[in-house]
Amino acid sequence: MKQWYDNAIIYQVYPRSFQDSNNDGLGDLEGLLQRLDYIKKLGVNAIWINPVFTSPQVDNGYDVSNYFNIDPHFGSMDTMNALIKRAHELGMHIILDFVLNHTSDQHPWFQDALKSPKSLFRDYYIWEHTKDGQVPNNWGSFFGGSVWAQHPTEKNTYYFHLFDQHMPDLNWANPEVRQAMIEVAKYWVEKGVDGLRLDAFIHIAKANLRQDFPSAEKGAVIAEPMYANLPNVVTYLQEFINELRKINPDLFILGEGASAGPELAALYTRSNRGNALCDGIVSFRNLPKERLAQQDPLAMKLNLPAKEKLDLAQLPESIVHWQTSLAQTTQPTLYFSNHDMPRMATAYADSEYFERSLKTLATMQYLQKGVPIIYYGEELGLKNVELERFTAFQDQTVTALKSQLSGREQTEVLKYLSQTHKTPARQPMPWDDSANQGFSEHEPWLRTSSKQVTVAAEEDDPDSLLNFYRQLLHLKQQDLFANGEFRLLTAPTGLLVYERYLAGKSALVVTNLTSDSMSYTNDDWTNADITYTVGQVTLDDKQWHLAPWSSIVLKQDQLPWL
Ligand code: GLC
Repeated sequence: MKQWYDNAIIYQVYPRSFQDSNNDGLGDLEGLLQRLDYIKKLGVNAIWINPVFTSPQVDNGYDVSNYFNIDPHFGSMDTMNALIKRAHELGMHIILDFVLNHTSDQHPWFQDALKSPKSLFRDYYIWEHTKDGQVPNNWGSFFGGSVWAQHPTEKNTYYFHLFDQHMPDLNWANPEVRQAMIEVAKYWVEKGVDGLRLDAFIHIAKANLRQDFPSAEKGAVIAEPMYANLPNVVTYLQEFINELRKINPDLFILGEGASAGPELAALYTRSNRGNALCDGIVSFRNLPKERLAQQDPLAMKLNLPAKEKLDLAQLPESIVHWQTSLAQTTQPTLYFSNHDMPRMATAYADSEYFERSLKTLATMQYLQKGVPIIYYGEELGLKNVELERFTAFQDQTVTALKSQLSGREQTEVLKYLSQTHKTPARQPMPWDDSANQGFSEHEPWLRTSSKQVTVAAEEDDPDSLLNFYRQLLHLKQQDLFANGEFRLLTAPTGLLVYERYLAGKSALVVTNLTSDSMSYTNDDWTNADITYTVGQVTLDDKQWHLAPWSSIVLKQDQLPWL
């Protein structure tokens, strides 16, 4: 049976950065509500909103202290209700970011659990005891240091936190926790949200805690096999999703499987005796990447993440792998970035052919079979913002770097991190060229990008990236591009070519992802109609010539091989 999300085109909104309605420098739900028409006009039909539940905001809302209410920074439950209602009136769906692996340490469950080993909520979290003041094992947290933090008063008692120490992991092995989280999610599904993005769900099962992860390194080490993708993840997930589907069979579940490649994504979307799991997976492994040959020596010395670019030699195989692995269960998700990654325009654009390269990349990516997820501002060509202070990254490991560096090195590292770190990709949306770019009348929580693109400027320019995205996403809504079969064609490295076909109609997409001119011949397509071109494309005796970063989309009312 067809579901609404088979044709989903998702827009991801980081709510603290989209639109501030009460001029406190932080974006909010009322601001988002005011901008729904803009989102609708883009051609999307679903909005994924990063977490807005009550939270001390240690990790911008991923540390939830009350799942049944909206954080006052973002507004009230009334505004959330109005947002859901208005989005539905506009024919759009709301997908909430749902944090289920951990809570805030301020959550009443954890506060109660801290009080005594006899607390009814003690077993909602994960505890270990040692005798000698050592942490229970060497497993490392994704946010640096050990996964273990000491109980404030009970000696030799530790709780487990995979992320920040103010975000203790829930103990999903406890059936009461599983039931409690089902109740929380039910509340939102009953309220009428259309989907949930399950944050970090691949970590809800843990291995036996009384073992070190084998490593030559001293101290805490990242130990994925101990806390990622363990067999019980599927068991817990299935129970959770089944209960929610009883309330809304059309509920869309987008799972965040950070380390998932195509096989794991297939596992998490595979239906088992009618019990479906996720409907889509987002991961860090969606695109093949290679390290840039020229690496910054200081960044390497400090062990900062390497700068990367698209691995063009691996790209066709990677696309086919994702497409085929998910063909039986769902479809791939198509995106370049999100709030945890550098922005597309920073990571992948060619500075010499900036706008054209972004148009061609979007063509290559979003006309494939799959669900596009557009990260707010991407449609404008927004780049990561340059942050000029170490504390602005809001990341303890970055703050700690400052004291190790000379003044000149500090400037260099800030510049480097502005391109690779997640925080500079979360800047306020630039609506116009007023003081804070129309985002707020107050100084925004994070710097706005100076001298950058704005919605107002692009609105009036028919060739702008914004207007290109609108056309592209409207094309994507057509049945052929939403549901047609996908077939990758062989082409020289750097040219990505594929066909879509459905009910006797077909399309060819040819994209030159390099700064060289490239040619392409395909006799099946010489009489087809041109839907659009990016850059310069010419046809000369059955051969298409594509200037650097150019692309062409062709359509015909027949199947290419007939
Ligand atoms: C996910 C989120 C990330 C957050 C983490 C902890 O990976 O995308 O932003 O910090 O989970 O909740």
